[in-house]
Amino acid sequence: MFENMNIVIGVTGGIAAYKVCGLISYLKKEGANVDVIMTNNSTKFITPLTLEVLSGNKVIVDMFDRPDHIDVEHISLARKADLFLVVPATANIIGKVASGIADDMLSTTIMATKAPVVFAPAMNNGMYENPIVQDNIKRLTKYGYKFIGPISGHLACGYNATGAGGTSERIDNVRKITNSSSGKLGCTIANTILEEIDDVKIYYICSKNTVKPNSKSIKIIEVEGVSDLKNNVEFLLKNDNIDFFIHSMAVSDYTTDYVTTLDKLKKSFENTGDFNLVEKINGSKISSNENNLVIVLKQTPKVISIIKDVSPTTFLVGFKLLDGVSKNELISVGRKLMNKNSCDMVVANDLSDIRSGNHIAYLIDKDDNVSTANGKDDIAKKLVRRFKYER
Ligand SMILES: Cc1cc2nc3c(=O)[nH]c(=O)nc-3n(C[C@H](O)[C@H](O)[C@H](O)COP(=O)(O)O)c2cc1C
Repeated sequence: MFENMNIVIGVTGGIAAYKVCGLISYLKKEGANVDVIMTNNSTKFITPLTLEVLSGNKVIVDMFDRPDHIDVEHISLARKADLFLVVPATANIIGKVASGIADDMLSTTIMATKAPVVFAPAMNNGMYENPIVQDNIKRLTKYGYKFIGPISGHLACGYNATGAGGTSERIDNVRKITNSSSGKLGCTIANTILEEIDDVKIYYICSKNTVKPNSKSIKIIEVEGVSDLKNNVEFLLKNDNIDFFIHSMAVSDYTTDYVTTLDKLKKSFENTGDFNLVEKINGSKISSNENNLVIVLKQTPKVISIIKDVSPTTFLVGFKLLDGVSKNELISVGRKLMNKNSCDMVVANDLSDIRSGNHIAYLIDKDDNVSTANGKDDIAKKLVRRFKYER
């Protein structure tokens, strides 16, 4: 369909700029000749070199960069184009062209071309729904410019869910078993997301007594035990579009099955030849006169295993904590967690590193890349950098 067509692609400064790589490769495969004009701002998102390699043509950014031949490039590309695509199209380029502004190579060439021009707007809902942007689109449509999309998808501004602290399981009405997770890593990750990604909303699922970030963009959901956590996670994933789920909460592996005393067990054995598990203390506060309590624990359901089942498109980050193992073993167990639960990334760390205050962690992704982070800030920054790339 595109064989021998001259297609000029204008790239502007939006988070979706990297997606133009796939488009250029596709058009080249279909036999088109592709020239690329980038705005200055778009070069902050993707390099001209990448697009030069993919398109096989020199990429133009600066209008006043004198070419080594006499063509005035905006005129020559404007004339050469059979089709002009602006991918992604920022609110800015749409506004500029709608207002007749031609102050850089891209807007000037669009103004000069007689080829059909198709814009692919990509921006957050707030920007796209702004009546000024909508008026500009209507105005350009009236002049014969075409628009593709946008369809909704993962935006830079999305919903994240972060877990922090440890769950706790009740022994009786006043006593609980928990773990020593501080929740500080989850809190650092939430704060880093807020610092680095605009307009993001975070659901912060955490234990009652853990550290909590403080922002209007964060909705705190306090949970106690694993079943409470599981219900909240399921509800959230079913009722909201969660782009990223950072499963950093330290979830109890065991919950109380029943509580009894050694004496009760002994008596039961003497009388029946078996441990009578019915003789248990349940619910109400166990008297402090009871001695030699026996608490039988059973395994809890794995909350991480339900996340992709309920929401397959959510980017899932799992966490693995081991104690006193080698780096190789840590990474290998991290990979197993990833495969078992379809995680997109796993952060694997060893308790001995956390205790020593270094907090070294290995960030493993689905392509088997492993990057080392040193410290909670570094772990959070590396994760958030990855989220930005994934959007
Ligand atoms: C991280 C980041 C992401 C952005 N993403 C978008 C976007 O998706 N859509 C958009 O219209 N503007 C986006 N902007 C704002 C544009 O980059 C800004 O309006 C710029 O002036 C556009 O310039 P250009 O149209 O000349 O490339 C983003 C800015 C930043 C810093």
